[in-house]
Amino acid sequence: MYCSFSLSLPLLLLLIMSISFLSTLCVSTNQQSTNMDPHELETLFKIMETVSSDQNWRISHPYPCKLSSSWLGIGCKKGFDNKSHVTRLDFGTRPNPTCKPTATFPNLIFQLPNLESVFFIQCFTHSKTRISVSRNRLFSSSLQQLSLRSNPALIGSIPSQLSSLKSLQVLTLSQNSLIGQIPVEIFSMSFLVHLDLSYNKLTGKVPHQIGNLQNLVGLDLSYNKFIGPIPDTIGQLGMLQKLDLSSNAFTGSIPESTENLPSLSFMALSNNKLSGKFPKGLAKLLSLQYFLMDDNPMFIPLPVEFGQLKKLQELRLAGSGYSGTIPASYSQLLNLTTLSLQNNKLTGEIPVGFSSLSHIYHLNLSRNFLGGVVPFNSSFLKRLGRNLNLSGNPGLCLSPSEADAVFIGVGVCGSNNTNNSITKPFKKSEAPSEYNISFFLVAAIGIVAFHYLFSLV
Ligand SMILES: *[C@@H]1O[C@H](CO)[C@@H](O)[C@H](O)[C@H]1NC(C)=O
Ligand SMILES: *[C@@H]1O[C@H](CO)[C@@H](O)[C@H](O)[C@H]1NC(C)=O
Ligand SMILES: *[C@@H]1O[C@H](CO)[C@@H](O)[C@H](O)[C@H]1NC(C)=O
Ligand SMILES: *[C@@H]1O[C@H](CO)[C@@H](O)[C@H](O)[C@H]1NC(C)=O
Ligand SMILES: *[C@@H]1O[C@H](CO)[C@@H](O)[C@H](O)[C@H]1NC(C)=O
Ligand SMILES: *[C@@H]1O[C@H](CO)[C@@H](O)[C@H](O)[C@H]1NC(C)=O
Ligand SMILES: *[C@@H]1O[C@H](CO)[C@@H](O)[C@H](O)[C@H]1NC(C)=O
Repeated sequence: MYCSFSLSLPLLLLLIMSISFLSTLCVSTNQQSTNMDPHELETLFKIMETVSSDQNWRISHPYPCKLSSSWLGIGCKKGFDNKSHVTRLDFGTRPNPTCKPTATFPNLIFQLPNLESVFFIQCFTHSKTRISVSRNRLFSSSLQQLSLRSNPALIGSIPSQLSSLKSLQVLTLSQNSLIGQIPVEIFSMSFLVHLDLSYNKLTGKVPHQIGNLQNLVGLDLSYNKFIGPIPDTIGQLGMLQKLDLSSNAFTGSIPESTENLPSLSFMALSNNKLSGKFPKGLAKLLSLQYFLMDDNPMFIPLPVEFGQLKKLQELRLAGSGYSGTIPASYSQLLNLTTLSLQNNKLTGEIPVGFSSLSHIYHLNLSRNFLGGVVPFNSSFLKRLGRNLNLSGNPGLCLSPSEADAVFIGVGVCGSNNTNNSITKPFKKSEAPSEYNISFFLVAAIGIVAFHYLFSLV
């Protein structure tokens, strides 16, 4: 190791005093890199032999923590005992050490005394293996992050003994082949900040003890086979920012207690069996930016309260049997980029205010019972292009003056073809001029009649 320091006269005295200290520091840093506890070194080599395909680590890297021969996928730091300790293991994807087809879960990792983070990504792919926690004393009380992701051969259930990792903040077990219920002990891990169990085959109900994870910021249970209601105790997770429960078989309605999640910005409940009402306090979820709840058997009118959640960028409520009109309040969602309401039973007209949704780039209202004149001008229609879908609404039609814009699956008003999704709108030049005149005539008569009717009331 090379040590250098610049000289300045007033500091000379100080420098002379500290030079002996500095030189010992340089030497000790150098020694530190090779200085590992032999037991820990042996444990590390055994882990590498269980998992890695890359090389013979004992020969190619006899000093895994040495700075100059730094071992990708391994992180070390100097402990209070002046020895190097492994703090990070990162396997599976290049440039980190890749895993051999026969790699199995190395429970020896829990014997590395200073381990802080572990990643096994696309590592256990052929030989079936389970997460196991060694019977002997669990050393890794320092472990803060355990990420086992995209391991198709990682089978079995989540061991309850994981709960003895008392410092764990991030537990990611996503995209494995895990089965069974979540052991209730997991919910005693009160330091957990992120819990991701998505894309497995986990079953059973989510226990009410989930409310104990008071530090949780992210909870992802999506793409499993969970059943039963969403526990009411979810409202105790006051720090929660991301909640993803999509693609399970949850029943019942969204718990009223959700209104107590002021930081929630992402909520995904799509593809479940949720029904019934929205929480009364829906309008309190003022941090919501993404609300994704396609494909649930809701069969109620759309809640007007979404119009008060001004931060919403994405609102997806497709395929859920919503009836009634689209609340005009949704026109206030000026930051909205995506609105999906297709495959419902919505009636009435498209709110005129939608034309001023200046950030919208994806609007899908297809397959409803919407009617009336589409309230969008040609610049709006051009901007959205194929990201606008109004097809499958037999009563909708496009004002002839905008009809040359783009194909949006809607016929031109006044044309007698109700086969909307198939008719291409006329080019303006092709449209017979009588249509324009008669259309405006009919519209004018309609407006007069409308005013007349209302003046009678
Ligand atoms: C670690 O090294 C420092 C100086 O390099 C020394 O003062 C200290 O006593 C050492 N600690 C142990 C536990 O050896
Ligand atoms: C809308 O988006 C802009 C830009 O991303 C942001 O500055 C603004 O705060 C957002 N408005 C609301 C109400 O969230
Ligand atoms: C289209 O409508 C928007 C919003 O109502 C408006 O700002 C814009 O000027 C209109 N463009 C044209 C070409 O009329
Ligand atoms: C519009 O939606 C219909 C079904 O509602 C679908 O068949 C069609 O492909 C969609 N069009 C576009 C451009 O995505
Ligand atoms: C709109 O919804 C339909 C029906 O679900 C779907 O086919 C289409 O891809 C969606 N998006 C657009 C832009 O049409
Ligand atoms: C409807 O269309 C048919 C042919 O497609 C045409 O003969 C008929 O005149 C049209 N009727 C009206 C009212 O426009
Ligand atoms: C719509 O088009 C299809 C196929 O071209 C035709 O069979 C059907 O009769 C049409 N329906 C109406 C209401 O015009």
